[in-house]
Formats: sequence, structure tokens, C-alpha cells
Amino acid sequence: MSDTINILLLGSGGREHALAVKLAESPRCGELFIAPGNGGTLEVGENVALDENDPEAVADFARETGCGLVVIGPEAPLVVGVADAVRAAGIPCFGPGAAGARMEGSKQFSKELMDRAGIPTAAYGAFTDEESAAAYVREQGAPVVVKADGLAAGKGVVVAATVDEALEAVHECFAGAFGEAGSTVVVEECLTGPECSLLAFTDGKTVRPMDTSQDHKRALEGDRGPNTGGMGVYSPVPIVTADELAQMQQVMVDTVAELAAEGIDYRGCLYGGFMLTPQGPKVLEFNARFGDPETQVILPRLKNDLVEVMLACANQTLDQVGLSWRDEWAVSVVLTSAGYPGSYEKGKVITGIDDAAAMEDVTVYHAGTAVNEAGEVVTAGGRVLDVTALGATFEAARNRAYEACEKIDFEGKTLRHDIGLRALKGRSAWEA
Ligand code: AMP
Ligand code: GLY
Repeated sequence: MSDTINILLLGSGGREHALAVKLAESPRCGELFIAPGNGGTLEVGENVALDENDPEAVADFARETGCGLVVIGPEAPLVVGVADAVRAAGIPCFGPGAAGARMEGSKQFSKELMDRAGIPTAAYGAFTDEESAAAYVREQGAPVVVKADGLAAGKGVVVAATVDEALEAVHECFAGAFGEAGSTVVVEECLTGPECSLLAFTDGKTVRPMDTSQDHKRALEGDRGPNTGGMGVYSPVPIVTADELAQMQQVMVDTVAELAAEGIDYRGCLYGGFMLTPQGPKVLEFNARFGDPETQVILPRLKNDLVEVMLACANQTLDQVGLSWRDEWAVSVVLTSAGYPGSYEKGKVITGIDDAAAMEDVTVYHAGTAVNEAGEVVTAGGRVLDVTALGATFEAARNRAYEACEKIDFEGKTLRHDIGLRALKGRSAWEA
């Protein structure tokens, strides 16, 4: 079992840098290719120019380079069936096929599956015309949540405080603000409570839930401003009770069982986004992949060999694998380019990464970075770096992450200073 295998990892974010680091740590990792990768992944493997959303091109590359495992980071390649093409080529793949990726690719699909499986989630209606959606909004009243059915890069959800705001959101979806993704609209009951994410490895039969994590989606401190891809994250979530954790774990098991019962062979990571309501945890959404930035705090805490775990998912031997976790807490703060999630400048030289990374238990994951012709690391995206620290306590991890952030500089460097602050204060911080 000690043979090395070549691995192809798809994606270019902080999540993929964290995946690449963890894969490369494994004695089983031979050559590691990342397509397209970023300024961080090229330090742990070889970045390759390959269209990650072209199923045949990915399968051909994996075959030609003798890969024994393909790992799919983002949702877009999953939804277009890259995993199906890789498996058809006889290569083990971590990531569901197009059928399983509908858990993320269609909110209506995942809501209907949850209904069939009896999974607790917000009451909802799904509509393909504006008039019916608007009538349902008026009937439900505010607050109410409006969601574009398809992939909208995290921007397709409006938590509307008034009926007018909800009607406007419905109108925008049908007017084409999210293209095809908005041709079906889901209108949902507005839930309240702290949020918590639970990711799970699965081979379609066995489910191995990971530890909890929580990101911060809003751009501004105090959870204000527009939604982003994530501004910071921590793991585990201190405010979750043992009872809530058990219920969330059961949801993950029941969901995979339902997928299997419906003939969907789901092998990869299933991401459950929960709200801890007064009636217990309810599902807000499923994603068909690892979270970004959740991965950046989960993987540093995972003691297992990631190549072994992913191969077990791909080859349906996960029943033989148990997960174990480091006791330390992890906190990750995202450094962004000024203006994100709106427009921002690129190409700013970044200094201090090595100083930050030299700190004990600190890892700096690259998200939107590139290396320029002079060999300098420069900004190349909205989310630039994920500064992650481990600590014996939540507070120690948090303080260390912020200390590391101070060592890094680039023009326009922006961050939230309140990552994890509410969780540190305890559950009462949500009862305002
Ligand atoms: P989603 O992409 O479905 O997870 O939604 C993005 C964010 O919108 C979530 O993280 C929540 O903060 C919020 N949200 C989604 N659905 C609901 C809901 N039913 N009630 C309250 N907030 C919600
Ligand atoms: N951080 C949320 C997500 O990956 O969807």
C-alpha cells in the first residue's frame, strides 16, 4: 500500500492550496498537478494550464500523466460532469458526478430530496414564473428568503426584511440577474439562530462527518455589507451542543442514504450548511464539495493521511477508515483586496508572507495570488490570502492569526477584525 500515485487537483483558491498542502504531506503522493492553481500551489506541486471545466480534457490529462486520483475542488467542474468523465476513464475521482452535484447545483432538487428524506429544513415553495412566486411571498409575509435555484457564486440569496424587498429579489431573478440559475426561484421561510457547517467524507455508503466549522460571509464587521465568498472561519464551533452535533451528523448520514436509495453514487465531500434554530439544526443548503475557506481550518486539524481518505472515498472503502482530529482550535482570517466583493485592483506586491508563515502553528494559504515576472508574489484576486493559526484555546488561535496578519502587507489590504468574536462571547451573542 506504500506505492505513490500521481494526483491531479482542480481549482485555484485558498481551498485548493490547503488541499494541495495536505495531499503533498502524504507519503503516497507522487507528482501533484494543480489546474490551474495559484501562487501558493506552485510551491507544493506543478501548476498546469488546463480547462478545469472541460470533462474530456481533464480525463485525458489525468490518463496521460498516469494519475491515480483526481480531486475536484470547486463546484463548477462537478456540475458539468468532470467526475463522470474521469471515472469513465477508469481513474479514481474524489467528487460526485453531475447527478450528485445537483445537491448544490439546484436548490429545488436538494429541497425536494430533503423532503423525501424527512430532513429538517425551512418551509419553501419553488416557482418558474414571477406571478406565482410573488403571490407566495405576499402570502408568507416578511421576513422571507429568496434564492436563485442554480449556481450564483454565493450571490443568489436575499434575506428580505420586507415584502417589497422580497418582491424586488424575485423580479431580479426572473429578469435574468443570475442567468439560467435564476429561471427557477425558491422562496423560503426565514430561520433564525447561529450558523454552523458540517462537512462529511463519503463513498456513497459510509459517511464520516468532519469537525464543525463556521465562516463569515458578510464583507463588513458586525456581519454587515454584501455577501462574499467568506471573510474568515474557525473550527470547531464552540457554541454547538452535543445534541445539536449528533442531529447534524444524523442529517449527513440520512442524506447520503437517500442519495444512494435514489440511485445517486455520491463519492466526495458533502457540505451541510445548518442554522441552529430553537427547534434544532435545520439545513440551509448543501454543497457538493469542500468549503472555501472552511477547508483552511479543517485540514490543518485532520490527523489522517488525506490521500488515503480520498482514495477510500473514491474506491468505496471508507468503512475501513476512521478520522482523527488535533485538539487545537483553528482560526483563519482572509486578507482581501480593497473593494472586494465589488471591483478591485490586482498586481499589488505582497510582503511579509514568509515572516507570518515562520510563526509557530501559522500557515498562510494563497487564494488570489500570482507570481510576477520579477518573481514577486502579487495580488490576483479579491480574496488574496487565508492566514490560519492553530492554538490550544480558541482565543489563542484567534490572537495568533491576527498577529500573523499584521506581518503581511500589500496596497489595499483589507480584513475583518471580528472573526470568531461572537462565538468567543458564547451563545448569548446571537440572542440580541
Ligand atoms: P445559502 O447559499 O443557501 O447557504 O444562503 C446563504 C446565506 O443566506 C446563509 O449562510 C444564511 O446566512 C442565509 N440564509 C439562507 N437561507 C436562509 C433561511 N432560510 N433563513 C435565514 N437565513 C438564510
Ligand atoms: N464558505 C462557503 C462555501 O464554501 O460555500
